[in-house]
Amino acid sequence: MGLTFTEFFSMKKNLFTAIILGIAMVSCESSTYDEVSNTEVPTEKITYTKHVKGIMEAKCTSCHSTGGSASSRPLNTYAQVNGAINQIIDRIQRPAGDPLRMPQGGTMSAADISIVVKWKEDGLLEN
Ligand code: HEC
Repeated sequence: MGLTFTEFFSMKKNLFTAIILGIAMVSCESSTYDEVSNTEVPTEKITYTKHVKGIMEAKCTSCHSTGGSASSRPLNTYAQVNGAINQIIDRIQRPAGDPLRMPQGGTMSAADISIVVKWKEDGLLEN
């Protein structure tokens, strides 16, 4: 066998590119995760507009809105999320691996789950 210098160099270049892309993808993924997932539960009263809406948009409405796989149960508005709160709390607290666990096929931070639970405890405030 025997590679020419150019072949060897382009293999190394591809490997190098793959590694850089890999690092870029991992770091993008973790920064997106930070943006969309809370890591702390606020001590103030939880409101839909300030805390819950963003979680629904990041984790749920891709399916739970028009055109999604769960469009019959939209979670786009205060009234819709409020009306489904008991089912939502049931679904997001199910153990990993439970087929009924939400978000389906995804993950949610423990803080996000607690924020939704605390929203109910705080009285399901809109603003
Ligand atoms: C990848 C798509 C997808 C995502 C993301 C998703 N769901 Fe679902 N969800 C479904 C589907 C499909 C169903 C219907 C099947 C079932 O009941 O499990 C469903 C059912 C539900 C139900 C039961 C509705 C009913 O009428 O019985 C609730 C409540 C629910 N999801 C809440 C959520 C919440 C809250 C999130 C975000 C944290 C979420 N889902 C994210 C696809 C999704």
